[in-house]
Amino acid sequence: MNLKLVSLSIIAFTSSILCAEVDLTFPDDFMFGAATASYQIEGAWNVDGKGESIWDHYSHNYPEYMKENATGDDAAKSYYKYKEDVKALKDMGMNHYRFSISWPRIFPTGLPNNVNEKGIKYYNNLINELLKYNITPVVTMFHWDLPQYLQNLGGWTNEIIVQYFEDFARILYERYGDRVSVKWWLTFNEIQNICFGTRTKKTFAPEPVTPGIGYYLTGHNILKAHARAYRLYEKEFPRDKQHGKISIAKEIMWPIALNESSECDQAAVNKNLLFTSRWLLDPIFSKQGDYPQELKDIIANKSKEQGFKQSRLPTFTPEEVKYIRGTADYLGLNEYTSYLVTMNEKKGNVSMADDMGVTIYISDTWITSKNSAWLSMNPQSMRSVLNWFKDNYGEQYGVLITENGFADGGDLDDDMRIKYYGTYFAEMLKAIHIDKVKMIGHSAWALIDNLEWTTAYTSKFGLYHVDFKDPERKRTPKKSSYFMKNLTSTRRLPE
Ligand code: NOJ
Repeated sequence: MNLKLVSLSIIAFTSSILCAEVDLTFPDDFMFGAATASYQIEGAWNVDGKGESIWDHYSHNYPEYMKENATGDDAAKSYYKYKEDVKALKDMGMNHYRFSISWPRIFPTGLPNNVNEKGIKYYNNLINELLKYNITPVVTMFHWDLPQYLQNLGGWTNEIIVQYFEDFARILYERYGDRVSVKWWLTFNEIQNICFGTRTKKTFAPEPVTPGIGYYLTGHNILKAHARAYRLYEKEFPRDKQHGKISIAKEIMWPIALNESSECDQAAVNKNLLFTSRWLLDPIFSKQGDYPQELKDIIANKSKEQGFKQSRLPTFTPEEVKYIRGTADYLGLNEYTSYLVTMNEKKGNVSMADDMGVTIYISDTWITSKNSAWLSMNPQSMRSVLNWFKDNYGEQYGVLITENGFADGGDLDDDMRIKYYGTYFAEMLKAIHIDKVKMIGHSAWALIDNLEWTTAYTSKFGLYHVDFKDPERKRTPKKSSYFMKNLTSTRRLPE
């Protein structure tokens, strides 16, 4: 490990001391909240008419890929205990809740011809409970639990799904957007991770599709589906009636050059951002729209070398470019961590990793989570990403942190989580007060402990502990929930 890097991470962890330089108060309109997702908390996987999702299918058919052979069949039982979840938000003084809607609970097969009224009712009840306490719902339409029936058609790689997603969005606007209630929409959570679901290894549902092709096709169709949902809202649900705002939740792990003085490693930073973030953000947020030219060129050249007649990256027509461009009212940002990057010009394989040609590492000098393979404490990533977004896409988009959090084994005395939030909020306050980034608010991941995908119940992110051995799934506030409560009541980060 070279010295520069070590000192970089030292700066990161003294950020609470540097706080003295920054105004520690949160702007009056800053929203504090917490987040969850349907498959990770609800359980009731086949109750009241819900259809099978790809995660139900995956956990039932490939138990060996789920830690401890776990499933989300019961998860935290929020389907039954949502009132306790809302009470937790209220007790922490939070004013928004980001949750997702399970598509197969609304349309059991995903096809728009048989709406499940019981599923509709569940989210109606949840929304009403939130409104009772003045907690604003922030609704994610798709947080990875695709109806298996649609997966059998090829899932996101089959363009037919774009229409089905629009139909799904329509019913959500109709049933939940009618009241003043749902103003904040997110069409998709972490698009790139959805594309990663199509990797060669069985690390994520669904089962993989052709690497290096399915990956780009998935992103391409999701961008189209997102734009359809946005344009539908504009056309059929005029803003003067619903006043809603729509975006996506984009994950960005901030890349840092392995060797800061190496031009090659600096190039790896840009290349990494190109393949992980600009690929999906430029078509929506950039002035010109479309995929970045550099990305098109790289993939076209690689494809040619590999004997393809055309690029493996699908193309948008000029009409599609225009249609997708500008389809966001704000940015939803999932911001957790950083990694180190270096160039790695691999050749030959038809895969996104080889197209990108960048290797990523985690430094052994960083404080890492013992319960997550990818998560380290890198608070400066928060400020860096916020500034990068502003510099690239302009100042007009407010940013809502749609996820941010730390994993441990589920301890009630979760001091590491408090340290994580303290340092990350400090960096965010610098972005707000010094860099003048327009921030909307922060949603902690997660409100309660939940099923962390394939690492299942071994990686806990909750502000509230859930006892997964207890049939009642008892919830208990962790120390970090009191930290949050203090933040929401003082609206100031403690020194
Ligand atoms: C990303 C995902 O959106 C969420 O589902 C997951 O649990 C957290 N980050 C933590 O990994």
